[in-house]
Amino acid sequence: MSKEVHVKNIGLRGVTVADSAISFIDGEQGVLIYRGYRIEDLADHSTFMETAYLLLHGSLPTREEVAGFSEQVRAARELPDFLYACMKRWPVTAHPMDVLQAAVPLLAMADGQGEALDRDRYLANSIGLIAKLPTITAAWHRIRHGQEPLAPDDSLDHAANFLWMLQGEKPHPETAHDLDVCLILHADHTFNASTFAAREVVSTRASIYAGVTAALGALSGSLHGGANTRVMQMLLELEDEDDVAAWVHARLAQGKKVMGFGHAIYKTGDPRAAYLKKMGKRLGDHSGQNWFTLSQQVEDATLAEFRAKGKTTILPNVDFMSAPVYHMMGIPLDVMTPIFAFSRVAGWCSHIIEEQFADAQGKPALYRPKAEYVGEYCGLMGCEYSPPEERG
Ligand code: COA
Repeated sequence: MSKEVHVKNIGLRGVTVADSAISFIDGEQGVLIYRGYRIEDLADHSTFMETAYLLLHGSLPTREEVAGFSEQVRAARELPDFLYACMKRWPVTAHPMDVLQAAVPLLAMADGQGEALDRDRYLANSIGLIAKLPTITAAWHRIRHGQEPLAPDDSLDHAANFLWMLQGEKPHPETAHDLDVCLILHADHTFNASTFAAREVVSTRASIYAGVTAALGALSGSLHGGANTRVMQMLLELEDEDDVAAWVHARLAQGKKVMGFGHAIYKTGDPRAAYLKKMGKRLGDHSGQNWFTLSQQVEDATLAEFRAKGKTTILPNVDFMSAPVYHMMGIPLDVMTPIFAFSRVAGWCSHIIEEQFADAQGKPALYRPKAEYVGEYCGLMGCEYSPPEERG
């Protein structure tokens, strides 16, 4: 068998595998649209609750509909008692993304009907997941620090309630609003790795919980949602560095990546990063913290390095800007990716529902790509088996 590389679409780049009506990206123009609406408009005027409804149901809700949806999410925030009991026994070193990935199957157990294929049930499950992922994240953060989890506060909106449960203080309304905007900007992104993982898993008719668990695993990686934590680690490493440009040069010369740069689809700029850049500047100016300024020094130095090599399409992505924004909100490093997760869960659930309940036409069957076999081959009769003692 030939050892040549035959794969045409490494990483499935450019392969269309399904019809989807949920979101749209124009990578050349730097545009991201949810169900027809540009993310900038949603970030300026909408709320995460309204955006989650839009993604799940396909159209913007009326005033009554969004109030009802928000109320359902609010009512579903609390976790089953046995989940708190389990978390209290987990090693305090556990990463919050691992905790989320371990906790979602426990929500399936609490639900008891995860395998029922019913659209209304999936919508109810989606509300439960959107409501509970922030509670799990905040509860784990307190448990691992030897504190009792705080009960959700019904008087607070989604983002404000998370900050309250995490930090034990009612957040400033502007901080809560900024976090809500971050949740809107991360809520969906077509067939990214975690969404594809979710859709691929439920194409086997596995449950919504199985799909979200797989998506959480995919999101945790440093090339995907895990990048925001890596960006902040990089900025912290640079805090006392006199020569940022020399640091960037040395990093790239060692063949390492500058985290938060590059994107598989955006080649002229990530619109989410552009939006967050304005927020980062405002937070930096108000707080007097230098994280935004430092991120801009890294950006300038990295772009200059890439320009010198003729690479003009590797630009800052959403994680490059969300990391300093979250840091200035007081979010711990390893809680940054869980925030991405409990925003994107709205998108994952919308895609899972689309995957399971789309009209038959255009509905993808069980995903089953193929690989080009390049391993040992002795013909269709197979290689001759020899017992261990005869192997040289
Ligand atoms: N730092 C340094 N070099 C980078 C880079 C980065 N952040 N991103 C891409 N490149 C370089 C690659 O090394 C490669 O160089 P080469 O052609 O000399 O081998 C070239 O650009 C193409 O990279 P590739 O990984 O094939 O591009 P991609 O578009 O498929 O990758 C990412 C997209 C996101 C995987 C990639 O840009 C990356 O790893 N970024 C850092 C992690 C990150 O921020 N992830 C969050 C994405 S939202």
